[in-house]
Amino acid sequence: MTTVTPLFAVSELPENSAKGVDLGERKLFAVNRQGNIYLYENRCPHKGIPLEWIPDTFLDAEKQFIQCSTHGALFTIDQGLCIAGPCTGAKLAPVSFEIIEGKVCIP
Ligand code: FES
Repeated sequence: MTTVTPLFAVSELPENSAKGVDLGERKLFAVNRQGNIYLYENRCPHKGIPLEWIPDTFLDAEKQFIQCSTHGALFTIDQGLCIAGPCTGAKLAPVSFEIIEGKVCIP
């Protein structure tokens, strides 16, 4: 039997919100965009540092893009593709997950 790591309940991530997940050495974040959940490594491809300064704040003011708080790079929510900023064309690292019994889980 494979073991999975539950991260959080889907109900803890309302639509158009984001959430950081601190696993110690590994930091992730999730975004719920119109009911679709996206999970990425919390590491900006520009400097390799976490994206947020304020906990759970990963989106721009309009909640249209993921925004790095250090130099303002903007990433698409669905692809993690940087479309503006110092790392344009680079991508956030996606993390595969499953939803099991209402919880977002990683392998
Ligand atoms: S560290 Fe993210 S844009 Fe520079």
